[in-house]
Amino acid sequence: MITLKLNGQDHQLDVTEDVPLLWAIRDVVGYTGTKFGCGMGLCGACTIHIDGAPARSCITPIGTVVGQNISTIDNLHNDRVGQLVQKAWLETAVAQCGYCQGGQIMSATALLKNNPKPTDEQIEEAMIGNICRCGTYNRIKTAIRQAASQLQEGQA
Ligand code: FES
Ligand code: FES
Repeated sequence: MITLKLNGQDHQLDVTEDVPLLWAIRDVVGYTGTKFGCGMGLCGACTIHIDGAPARSCITPIGTVVGQNISTIDNLHNDRVGQLVQKAWLETAVAQCGYCQGGQIMSATALLKNNPKPTDEQIEEAMIGNICRCGTYNRIKTAIRQAASQLQEGQA
């Protein structure tokens, strides 16, 4: 048995240590907000936070994150910065098909929690690994700038 600290709760999971975290989150625990895209760490659809840092859950064996706090998009409404990012995403109407957007929002939230006032270059750098087949990149940047500016104004 492995204990997974996920979205503020301990989950006892009957899985082996090499099971990808994404599988454990989606298929064992049942949080389906985190998406499977490439399965190879190349697209960002599966982005979650490990102790606040963005990570690709498809290539993270569950045994490597025991004792660390894992957060997914399903729990982002409980996070102040996450709330602001999701609000900015809605107001900017970022999503098209939506498939990549959970991962995009998790990367954007990790960026703003670490750096509330990113430059355009820092936004590019933080988001470069999140692919969007619908090409919503410009709206993503607009939403991140909007969330950053609301963060500066203390809106949450
Ligand atoms: S599904 Fe994990 S990076 Fe693509
Ligand atoms: S909104 Fe369709 S892949 Fe990004």
